[in-house]
Amino acid sequence: CGIVGYIGGRQAQDVLISGLAKLEYRGYDSAGVAVADGGRVVVKKKAGKLANLSGELEHAPLPGTLGIGHTRWATHGLPNDTNAHPHATEDGRIVIIHNGIIENYLSLKAGLIERGHTFKSETDSEVLAHLIEEAYSGDLEAAVRTALGQVRGAYGIVVTHVDHREIVAARTVSPLVMGVGEGEMFLASDVPALLAYTRRMVFLHDGDMVVLHDDGFRVTDLAGNPQQRTIEQIDWDAEAAEKGGFDTYMLKEIYEQPTALTNTLIGRLHDDTGEVNLDINLDPSSFKRISIIACGTAYYAGLVGEYLIEQLARIPVEVDVASEYRYRSPLVSENTLAIVVSQSGETIDTLEALREAKKGGAKTLGVINAKGSSMTRELDDTLYIHAGPEIGVASTKAYTSMVGAFVMLALWLGRARGTLTDTQAQDLLHATRELPRLVEEALNPARVAEIKRVAEKYAHARDYLFLGRGVNAPTAFEGALKLKEISYIHAEGYAAGEMKHGPIALIDANLPVVVVATESFLLEKTISNVQEVRARSGKVIALLSDGDTENAQHADDVLYVPRAHEMVSPVVNAVALQLLSYFTASYLGKDVDKPRNLAKSVTVE
Ligand code: G6P
Repeated sequence: CGIVGYIGGRQAQDVLISGLAKLEYRGYDSAGVAVADGGRVVVKKKAGKLANLSGELEHAPLPGTLGIGHTRWATHGLPNDTNAHPHATEDGRIVIIHNGIIENYLSLKAGLIERGHTFKSETDSEVLAHLIEEAYSGDLEAAVRTALGQVRGAYGIVVTHVDHREIVAARTVSPLVMGVGEGEMFLASDVPALLAYTRRMVFLHDGDMVVLHDDGFRVTDLAGNPQQRTIEQIDWDAEAAEKGGFDTYMLKEIYEQPTALTNTLIGRLHDDTGEVNLDINLDPSSFKRISIIACGTAYYAGLVGEYLIEQLARIPVEVDVASEYRYRSPLVSENTLAIVVSQSGETIDTLEALREAKKGGAKTLGVINAKGSSMTRELDDTLYIHAGPEIGVASTKAYTSMVGAFVMLALWLGRARGTLTDTQAQDLLHATRELPRLVEEALNPARVAEIKRVAEKYAHARDYLFLGRGVNAPTAFEGALKLKEISYIHAEGYAAGEMKHGPIALIDANLPVVVVATESFLLEKTISNVQEVRARSGKVIALLSDGDTENAQHADDVLYVPRAHEMVSPVVNAVALQLLSYFTASYLGKDVDKPRNLAKSVTVE
């Protein structure tokens, strides 16, 4: 999760520990460092808090001026001393740390074992050390390049070798930033780790590889072609650094969604077979019904989940807000699967509802972001969404990752229960894999500028209505929730077809109505609802799929979003609505990250 590297004149251990301490807010379950000291590299790692490790190092310091350090958030293998990073080869000559997930590690590991390698940990990361060892014949950079050529997945990797005074690093998806000093070089996964030492930084691009020496660095792509990277002068204070240069955490987290989604999906989808591997031990064919339970934004992710699971796996699903579920004597049996959805894993209503479901004999599964949180300790199984820390009170990246997790769950259940053909599964799997790219596209500057323009145009509205249908009805509900949470404009989310049964009375020339009208088998019906709004002089802001010029004529303003398979479109559409709320609230001067009266995680009933 957190990476720090150092080469220069200082004692490396001090730089590593102080840098890792600056990344503690990101959450982790173990920590480790490796320091090179003439002819050997010594590794020290400990499960638990960084203080466990630094306490030990205070008593027995590791001398040396080249080192790498890591705080880990377990993905493969328990959080214990052995699985903590760094990982070394058996002879201890090559030491690596790795952020991310190696998708094909099982087959790589099998091959390495066959060729005589012995593994110490259960991590996917350890294969990297062995692959580099196998490829090494005197040139560390070349060996890392060869090893990475065999790897599929996401990584920020940092490597040292006893015989070389250099650090080799590379990244895809997982971020890496370099700090440039005088006669010393730094490396980290995030800027805050380095601010105490230097403000001259180089942000590595996806696919970059870098070699750090005491007095400089050299960047190439993975094929070895030299790359020019400029050194930037970072004038952020500590807080701005945590926001990655964005004005707010919320905006940073909105832009982190392609990466968050990649991390949600990675290693879990197998294109060739149309299978999903979620590492869930529950038997998918043993449930007769599913109860999804959550609060707030997580509840809306659950509503998308209901639609997906019923459509794709044909199991009856009900969704409850946790505070209601607890007290309505829910009918639960051993054939019930209760799925709780929570970013924090701490929300007391959801936790108590989970206990209620267990009491009734239900099997329990969590769709959770925060590792090791209270709920995860009581659940039968957890599907982590791996969205990374979310600081903004209004949830953004956790929501889209939760929905991504539900797409995978529905696929998994559908496959296991035989309700999906191979072709359907492969189509959907392909569409799911596209999500990070589509969200990236949804965040392109021209689209964002248009959303900002529309947000400001309607920022003085007193009320807002959000409409959507089918799998995108919850998109409308979540869109309305986001707007009221951070801008304090009253907003209602409604199923488009239900509008005529009530909210239609609100429509006049002052009411902006956001209609999610992206490609769908129900699009014509949604457009009829748009006409109903227009006929009453309401202002229509339509979310349309790219290329839909025909329906644009019915709207006052159009926000185009990238085309996506209908089943995964809630993820893409949510991004546009997050930005609409964001720009409305920031135009009105609201505190977007800490909206009044709200808490990030509510631990009172
Ligand atoms: C609070 C937050 C919401 C969040 C809800 C559920 O009310 O303000 O943004 O959706 O809790 O949180 P959880 O951590 O359980 O997903």
